[in-house]
Amino acid sequence: MSSESVILLDNAVMAFGGRRVLNGLTADIRKGEIFVIIGPSGTGKSVTLKLISGLLEPTAGRVTVLGEDVNALSDAALSAHRRRIGYLFQSGALLGWKTLAENVALPLLEHGRIPPGEIDRRVAAVLEEVGLGASGELYPAEVSGGMIKRAGFARAIVEDPELLLFDEPTSGLDPVMSRVIDRLIASISRARGVTCVVVTHDLAGALQYADRIAFLKEGRFLETASPEALLKTRTPDIRAFLDAQFVGGTYGR
Ligand SMILES: Nc1ncnc2c1ncn2[C@@H]1O[C@H](COP(=O)(O)OP(=O)(O)O)[C@@H](O)[C@H]1O
Ligand SMILES: [Mg+2]
Repeated sequence: MSSESVILLDNAVMAFGGRRVLNGLTADIRKGEIFVIIGPSGTGKSVTLKLISGLLEPTAGRVTVLGEDVNALSDAALSAHRRRIGYLFQSGALLGWKTLAENVALPLLEHGRIPPGEIDRRVAAVLEEVGLGASGELYPAEVSGGMIKRAGFARAIVEDPELLLFDEPTSGLDPVMSRVIDRLIASISRARGVTCVVVTHDLAGALQYADRIAFLKEGRFLETASPEALLKTRTPDIRAFLDAQFVGGTYGR
């Protein structure tokens, strides 16, 4: 892993109507790293991803992504910047009236300057990469939740992003399909050398692929550590979270 910084969160604060959701978020996420954010619901995990992607502007502090101070960018520069980032939304967010292949093609069509043959070739390649090579012509209503997530995944990587953001990539999936998605995150990160930030409350999955795990509580990263170190933590809030997810003290490793 190189030591190049891809995301710098410097005391980032995010308040809505005077209520501080994030209150001094600090992290340095490196190139090629898989950085996982865990924590109870409603603590600001999705808000953190929106800050990183430039969908939200911090109330205070700095968010630097791929060398750009996101808040200093003009609208045009911000949309160019956002093309360097792939985002897998929690719901999958596919359009129901388009096939999986047409959904995956959307970012390339929006780009406006890619020849149709090239679009078809790139869509076919990423569908293959996520194991949907034979399913491109199906509509979202015709496929399983796991296939919807994988199609969302294909759409997130079709522009060959430098940074991938995942919001609860396994929520709503059964354990077997969850592990399929986990392995996909690990293999795509390795194959493409792309930096990944994954928000999840699925600790078993995170332990399989994370380089580092940050525990978000009360607007801050209470602890940021390797999976091995996190499992040994004595911080009571994190212990309670870990112990609630596993029976009999076995941690899925
Ligand atoms: N655009 C918004 N306007 C006002 N409040 C918001 C907005 N987005 C998120 N919040 C609030 O911020 C808190 C954290 O939300 P979120 O990041 O979605 O939590 P989670 O950790 O479950 O992903 C919640 O209380 C939510 O209601
Ligand atoms: Mg969320």
